[in-house]
Amino acid sequence: MSNTKVFAHRGASGYAPENTLEAFALAIRQGADGIELDVQLSSDGIPVVIHDETIDRVTDKTGYVKDYTLQELKELTVLKDRFPAYNQSKIPTLKEVLEAVKPSGIQVNIELKTGIYWYPDIEKKVAEIVEETGMKDRIVYSSFNHYSVQRLKEIVPDAETAYLYSDVILNVGGYAKETNVDGLHPAVYHVKMADFLKEYKKSGLKVRVWTVNEETDMKELIEVGITAVITNYPDVAVRVRKESEN
Ligand code: G3P
Ligand code: MG
Repeated sequence: MSNTKVFAHRGASGYAPENTLEAFALAIRQGADGIELDVQLSSDGIPVVIHDETIDRVTDKTGYVKDYTLQELKELTVLKDRFPAYNQSKIPTLKEVLEAVKPSGIQVNIELKTGIYWYPDIEKKVAEIVEETGMKDRIVYSSFNHYSVQRLKEIVPDAETAYLYSDVILNVGGYAKETNVDGLHPAVYHVKMADFLKEYKKSGLKVRVWTVNEETDMKELIEVGITAVITNYPDVAVRVRKESEN
């Protein structure tokens, strides 16, 4: 039995508009063990689930998330041309997502999108919502901004955390352990280079690799018992995991 978990990247974003309630619901139906989502702040300081700093790519309007109120963001529809079957999807708040997925029992990887704008108090606002929804034990926080991860830890010292990175970092396992972080979230292309996969595994930290969309990569990572694959196609990863058990 494989221990590798399947995390749906922005929900089942290969099939439904990314980071929407519909994509998260679909991920649950497809058998994902967890979801990954991205959090930014609206102009009125509400944590909202959207990947980019702007609304340009996923809606038919333009501009920065941080310049729109929640009410204005709610008027927009997400990726309706790319996914015509889902032509009513809205940008959800973090609270709406957590409340929607809570009954399923799945884990949630909250990525703090603080790499370009470090939204004031985003860590505190997110932690408060997690506390309110009573889902603390099911959350893994990550960010490309490692100071933001540390700030979250100051607020919630027992939170599970991980460093995201998209460049190769020297002694990343040692660095994470020295700074009391529980996991590494490397890009899938890193684990194909040199002996990095071995090195990450050997660190003893939780290793969740993104974005694992190729079956061959899923198979390899499941067979070495990686902590999790973060994928746009959770149904495929669930099937590959099942096949690897036979
Ligand atoms: O958290 C894994 C992955 O989502 C990081 O990159 O750009 O898809 O948010 P990105
Ligand atoms: Mg992300």
